[in-house]
Amino acid sequence: MLSMKTANWSMIFILAMLASGCQPKQADLSPGDISILPKPVHIKVNSGLFEITKDTKILVDPEIGSLGEMLSTMLSPSMGFALDVSDGNPVRNSIRLSVNPSLEDLGEEGYRLTADKNRVLIEAPAGAGVFYGMQTLRQLLPAEVFGDAASEDVRWTIPCVEIKDYPRFKWRGMHLDVCRHFMPVEFVKKYIDLIAIQKMNRFHWHLTEDQGWRIDIRRYPKLAEISAWRDETLVGHYNDEPRKFDGQPHGGFYTHEEIREVVAYANGRYVTIVPEIEMPGHSQAALAAYPEISCTGGPFKVSTIWGIRKEVYCAGNEKTFEFLENVLREVLELFPGEYIHVGGDECPKDRWEECQKCQDRIRQEGLQDEHELQSYFIKRMEKFLHDNNRRLIGWDEILEGGLAPNAAVMSWRGEAGGIAAARLGHDVVMAPYSHTYFDYYQADPQKEPLAIGGLLPIDTVYAYDPVPAELDEQQQQHILGVQGQVWTEYIPTPEKVEYMAFPRACALAETAWTPADQKDYETFTAALLQHLKRLDFLNVNYRKL
Ligand code: ACM
Ligand code: ZN
Repeated sequence: MLSMKTANWSMIFILAMLASGCQPKQADLSPGDISILPKPVHIKVNSGLFEITKDTKILVDPEIGSLGEMLSTMLSPSMGFALDVSDGNPVRNSIRLSVNPSLEDLGEEGYRLTADKNRVLIEAPAGAGVFYGMQTLRQLLPAEVFGDAASEDVRWTIPCVEIKDYPRFKWRGMHLDVCRHFMPVEFVKKYIDLIAIQKMNRFHWHLTEDQGWRIDIRRYPKLAEISAWRDETLVGHYNDEPRKFDGQPHGGFYTHEEIREVVAYANGRYVTIVPEIEMPGHSQAALAAYPEISCTGGPFKVSTIWGIRKEVYCAGNEKTFEFLENVLREVLELFPGEYIHVGGDECPKDRWEECQKCQDRIRQEGLQDEHELQSYFIKRMEKFLHDNNRRLIGWDEILEGGLAPNAAVMSWRGEAGGIAAARLGHDVVMAPYSHTYFDYYQADPQKEPLAIGGLLPIDTVYAYDPVPAELDEQQQQHILGVQGQVWTEYIPTPEKVEYMAFPRACALAETAWTPADQKDYETFTAALLQHLKRLDFLNVNYRKL
């Protein structure tokens, strides 16, 4: 029988069965009773249970040995015992993790999980799939397995199942702005864990802004000394009259050592970090330290208010490109992922219109206007990244004035930018504010903590489909996936990040993973009720449904 500590629905189910004079049997479980989030592609529930005991062995293929250790470490705090890990032969009472190239039809991230009364087998063509099979195994166990203290009265059983599973999209992202409010390394790691638990695989780390620069760059020490700190922060909403400030300095930055630690942590969880270094706009904090690469020469302060700032990098000055390429060289050393995000959004052209250097550049390059100057800027950075074997991704404004070759587009102002880019043969990540901006209110603003505005309830998030019907089949292949955004103007603490991101990010995770025709909001909310118990054990301050 399922542990009595499992979810309400199963208790109600069991009590109903008892009341009707019938013994609850595992055979009565159906796929709908199992709450794996995101929902797996194929699941067959058989009768019986597998039970993890102190004597259960973890058996792991040598090439993915670290996953065996990870599984043992994942289970031991709640179980109060550590399972033995070895690469021995299959035995009874074992959980086996195995790389099986014959399963390549499941794709790079797919897996098969088979549990009978005697053993569990998780096999996949590659390590990522084994890792996702482990996440599924964890969700087949009672929610207590997510706790950090031993739960002695729980029986660690899972139903006998056969699962075959793989993702719909290869880009399943979550973003976090650590500039408007700095977030400590420990929280960034927790956020990565929460991403991985729901089988998402990209962490878009928004590292530079008008209000703060968050990555130490050795070549430019003033970025950490000056650009990482602001004098004070706006209290209340940007639109409030009169504006009020807290009078408290705010800031912080990550050292190279910390970044390496986070990158390794993410890598171990099959999460690729996409660092964002904003240009040419959203750059006032950098200009506060290096005003010589602005159009006017400054002086500037790290911004203490939100919104769009007019101080941007000078596109006519070679020193700007030297600076940004040197910054990116250090970024490339720290972040091994294919994509580097260069922002490109919300760059006012006011300073460029009045700058002799910028106007000279327009003339010399035969450009039409300041939009083409921005395009020139991004194309230069794209060439630099391409020459360094990386790919540029930017917000959809990078389409204006002409899209750089090989650039991928993150479509945030709706889907139009993404559709245009896909039609041009460019890769696209859908991130429209209408469905993926988790800084928006999730319910009646009168009853919610302060947010930037908008309204994005969880059912709207869930309803989103990232593949626009107006694209033909070949163009649709360019939709890499979908991403949720957490901008932190009004999110000063990790607890509030959790409140804003969850459970909306759970809804997005299912869109990112589960085939569109298998999504069903009622089934999702039933699974989510179970999943929220897991988030309770993980001390996540999610918004209650
Ligand atoms: C954005 O929200 N400015 C990308
Ligand atoms: Zn200029």
